[in-house]
Amino acid sequence: MDIHRYERLWLAGALVLIVLFIGTITYGAVVVGVEMVSASGGTIAPDEIPNDDRFSDPRVEQVGENEYEAYVIARQFLFQPRQLRVPEGSTVTFYVTSPDVLHGFEVVGTNANMMVIPGQVTKATVEFEEAGSYGVVCNEYCGAGHHTMEGSIEVVPQSEWEGGN
Ligand code: CUA
Repeated sequence: MDIHRYERLWLAGALVLIVLFIGTITYGAVVVGVEMVSASGGTIAPDEIPNDDRFSDPRVEQVGENEYEAYVIARQFLFQPRQLRVPEGSTVTFYVTSPDVLHGFEVVGTNANMMVIPGQVTKATVEFEEAGSYGVVCNEYCGAGHHTMEGSIEVVPQSEWEGGN
């Protein structure tokens, strides 16, 4: 079978693109460690949130020397707690859920950009190497007050941290 030269070029080009696309996704997942939305945090019925050990009292708690776990509820139109404090150099694992509609949980300037789905607990881990105030925004349209939905993570310099939250 005789394939025209230009057609062969297009076929080769398309093959290269397919390999590149698969390559970038594999690279992102394996080398960079980009995580897809997963159910790794587990599930929770929205009406069980007030009775749940993790979410009845949204908070951040220390679980290791420089390790913290944060339990956050994203709801119309706020984050509970609105502000979290951790010391510089800490690793924080966020568990976020929603009792009402779809929300976002993006910690500006970090790798955390999560979709918060009612019925599911979304999990992401962030290392806060530098002190400062990190904004938290909802980036999924969730209703009339969507644009007001914000919070912050205050990463306190070690010299000013006395263990208190
Ligand atoms: Cu919550 Cu937008």
